[in-house]
Amino acid sequence: MRISAAAHAALAASVSVRQNGGDGSKLDVGVWAPPGPNDIRSPCPGLNTLANHGYLPRDGRNIHISDIVTAMDQHLGIASDFGLVQVAGAAVRGAFSFLSDGGLGLESFDALTNSHNQIEHDASFTRDDLAFGSNVIKNTTQIESMIAHSEDGVTLTVEQIADARHARLKDSFSRNPSPRGLAARVVRQ
Ligand code: HEM
Repeated sequence: MRISAAAHAALAASVSVRQNGGDGSKLDVGVWAPPGPNDIRSPCPGLNTLANHGYLPRDGRNIHISDIVTAMDQHLGIASDFGLVQVAGAAVRGAFSFLSDGGLGLESFDALTNSHNQIEHDASFTRDDLAFGSNVIKNTTQIESMIAHSEDGVTLTVEQIADARHARLKDSFSRNPSPRGLAARVVRQ
């Protein structure tokens, strides 16, 4: 079941204007640009991609829940009802707060970065465990290890992703003196 047309219309009032890119130039919505030195990014490659295209605020600040759900629906093909479920998962773990305009959302992507073991966790495919470095900046070696599970170097089947996930969990557990939660539970089994 998809959410109602009225809810859709409300959600549609999202990021739709040109914003400053990292170098200060005006960028149209949909144009990809890397974050500038003062822009904030998160541990989530999905949300970062949306921000790098201007579908979410390029500066990574004041991100309304409605912006996230609409951007996921319109630009990633993730239906709003499913998007709201994902948002709810982050909400119960305390990611969102009231913004200066009274809306609810992420004050900045830092709210996700600073949620270690609540939302952000060790054993990610694309980021280091927090004990070893940044849980935000991508680790190219780890990304290549994940892609190495693909037969054609382009696509990953569900089985290949599962294998990659298990390998990454084992890697984290073998090196990280303090892996918590999922990593420890899955690899010990
Ligand atoms: C409510 C929306 C979302 C929130 C709050 C959110 C938040 C996060 C956070 C905090 C992480 C880091 C977890 C970790 O420590 O590995 C993460 C990981 C991830 N997110 Fe999102 N995310 C959202 C939506 C999306 C979307 C729309 C996509 C792309 C379609 C996406 C793709 C991913 C992927 C692939 C990872 C795993 C990265 C890895 O293992 O290195 N997310 N997300």
